[in-house]
Amino acid sequence: MQLQLTSPLDMHLHLRQGEMLKNITPLSSKTFSGALIMPNTVPPITTKEMVKNYRDEIVEAAKDGTFTPYMTLFFSNSYNYEFLQSIKDDILAIKLYPAGITTNSEGGVNSFDIETLKETLEAMSQLQIPLCIHGESDGFVMDREAEFIPIYKQLATAFPKLKIVMEHITTAASAKAVLEHDNLYATITLHHLYITLDDVAGGMLQPHLFCKPIAKRPEDRAALIDLALNANPKVMFGSDSAPHPKSAKEAPGCAAGVFTAPIALQALAQLFEQHGKLENLQAFVSDNAQKIYNITPPKKSILLEKKEFIVPDSYGEIVPFLAGKSLQWSIQ
Ligand code: NCD
Ligand code: ZN
Repeated sequence: MQLQLTSPLDMHLHLRQGEMLKNITPLSSKTFSGALIMPNTVPPITTKEMVKNYRDEIVEAAKDGTFTPYMTLFFSNSYNYEFLQSIKDDILAIKLYPAGITTNSEGGVNSFDIETLKETLEAMSQLQIPLCIHGESDGFVMDREAEFIPIYKQLATAFPKLKIVMEHITTAASAKAVLEHDNLYATITLHHLYITLDDVAGGMLQPHLFCKPIAKRPEDRAALIDLALNANPKVMFGSDSAPHPKSAKEAPGCAAGVFTAPIALQALAQLFEQHGKLENLQAFVSDNAQKIYNITPPKKSILLEKKEFIVPDSYGEIVPFLAGKSLQWSIQ
C-alpha cells in the first residue's frame, strides 16, 4: 500500500540555532515543503534583521529549494503599526508566549489585559498578520490550558478580524473552543495524538515524552484524534518538534520538548490508517494550513509506503519520539 502526499506542512517547528540548526533542518526540509518557524531562540527573534538572518541560516541548512521557512516574530506589545507594516512581508505570523511558560519564553507577555495588547493586536488585525499563541496560564500544570480558554475567547471576540491560532492544543475543552469562534484555529502535534500523561509519568518517568503543554487524559487525546482524523478545517498539523540534546533531557530539571520531525509523517500515516482515515491525511498535513494561512508552498511529492520503519535510537545527540520502536509506514 502506498500514499502520496503533496507539499506536507509543519505549522509549528523549532529549528534552534548554530550546529543544532544545521543538523536538524535537513530532517524537516527533506519531507516537508514548508514549516512555521518558532522564534523562541536565544535571544528571541524580534527585529526585521533577525528574521532575515534566521531565515537565511535555515535556507542554507535546508539544502533544498523546495522548503519554505515561514518566519515568525516573538510577540511584544511594543510593536506598532509602522513597525509591523515594515516587517509584514518577511513573516507569516507572530507568536505570543506568556512570560516564562516554556523554553526560552522569559521575554513573553505578563498581562493579557486587552487594553495593554490593543495597539499591537489592532495593527496585526488591519495588516492581516495571524497571531499564534502558546495558551497556558501559570496555574496547576494539568489545568493551564483550560484556564487559558477564556483569554482565547476574549481575544477572539475583541479582535474579530484577527486570525488566532491556538498552538498545540491538548484538551477536549480546547477542541471544543476552537469550533466556537470563526477566527480561532488550532495546531495539533503528533505526540499529543499518541500519548497521555500515563505514558509520560504513569510508570518510570519518560523524559523524552516531557513537553509543554504536558500530555493530558485519554478523553482529551480522543477529542484531538477526532478533530485531526476527520481533518476538521479549523485544525492543521504543527509538530512542535522541539529538540534538546540527550544531556538536557536525561537530567534533573529535564528540558521540555519532544523531537518528532523526522518520523512525523510515518507515524501520522500509521495513526490515520489505524482509524481508517488515510484519505484525510493530506488535508491535515497540508490543505487545511494552506487555506488557514493563505499560502501556496513549493510543490513536493512525498511517497509513503506500508513497509516497516524502525525509528533510530538517536539523531546525533537527540533522542526522537518513539526511538527504537517499529512503525508500519516508511518514506520511499
Ligand atoms: C518548546 C521548546 O523546547 O522550544 N518546548 C515544548 O515543550 N514544546 C517550546 C514550546 O513550544 O512550548
Ligand atoms: Zn513549540
